Amino acid sequence: MSAGRKFKIACIGAGNVGATAAQYCLEMELGDVVLTDIAEGVPQGKALDLSETGPVRGYSCMATGTNDYKDIAGADVCIVTAGLPRKPGMTRLDLLGKNGNIITDVCKNIAEHAPDSVVIIVTNPLDVMTYLAFTKLGFPPERVVGMAGVLDSARMRSFVAMELGVSMKNVDTMVLGSHGDDMVPLPDYTTVSGIPITKLLPQDKVDAIVQRTRKGGGEIVALLKTGSAYYAPGASAARMAQAIIRDEKQILPCAAHLTGQYGLDGVYAGVPCMLGKDGVENIIELELTDDQRTALHTSSEEVQKGIDELKELGVL
Ligand code: NAD
Ligand code: LAC
Repeated sequence: MSAGRKFKIACIGAGNVGATAAQYCLEMELGDVVLTDIAEGVPQGKALDLSETGPVRGYSCMATGTNDYKDIAGADVCIVTAGLPRKPGMTRLDLLGKNGNIITDVCKNIAEHAPDSVVIIVTNPLDVMTYLAFTKLGFPPERVVGMAGVLDSARMRSFVAMELGVSMKNVDTMVLGSHGDDMVPLPDYTTVSGIPITKLLPQDKVDAIVQRTRKGGGEIVALLKTGSAYYAPGASAARMAQAIIRDEKQILPCAAHLTGQYGLDGVYAGVPCMLGKDGVENIIELELTDDQRTALHTSSEEVQKGIDELKELGVL
């Protein structure tokens, strides 16, 4: 990615999350955005609407919409939200086969038209889809990363702020593992202006926040009834794009390819990553308790079940 030129972000999937991610990327003036989707007219209409928002919101980056993958050529970052969202009663794994085929097709097109991009996968089931994308793209693992931990840790930050009545800006958290009920929120790495929440809240409140974080996605699906969350997910994907586009070397929880870190090898799992222009430039190994390490491995085993199911379906 060469400096001194306008960057390009391809949002593949122009639905709720994709269009929201596009909006936040434009608001941050990360670069021009191209929205693509199979739905004719949708990416074009949303892109035109987003461009017309520029004068009001004071950004000069432009959005274009297309149904033709050739228009993503030269993208520096691809944010992939193409797929089906959950409906009430569905688990993320219920989306496996359908979204697996969609991701396979999307990756073929990214590899052809944006072979030098860093790819941020959002589509669920996230960890399995990110692993699938890694196998289908043929990119180095650092350029294929999943968005989940930024969202899940943001949810935990907001729950802590709500409970304590403090600014969300003062709260930092870390959530590891898969993007599912087996995720591993870490209270001992959750602080308010550097003060561990375990010194600020009784254990039952900490436990309730951990549990609400795990169920954060389902809580919104149950309320919306017709789909899943998209403001915080879109913002989280844009946050990762920001760290990459601006070469920030930010430490953010992301689904990354592990090669022995945390005792996991050849899998994708949510871990603290340093994000910069080359994607996942480093993986940070935190000191975990035995219980936390066990929970991380259990979380990874659930992801492996999804990968094995994809193999049975012939997608992998
Ligand atoms: P949505 O239905 O609003 O948008 C999905 C879009 O994908 C639609 O516009 C659809 O036309 C498009 N699409 C389908 N097949 C396509 C293809 N082959 N190529 C290009 N576009 C295609 O759904 P959404 O709310 O935006 O969610 C999108 C995905 O993101 C879902 O799988 C959802 O579960 C997931 N999600 C993940 C997280 C996370 O934390 N990782 C958070 C929220 C949503
Ligand atoms: C969420 C689901 C959609 O966490 O992944 O909102």
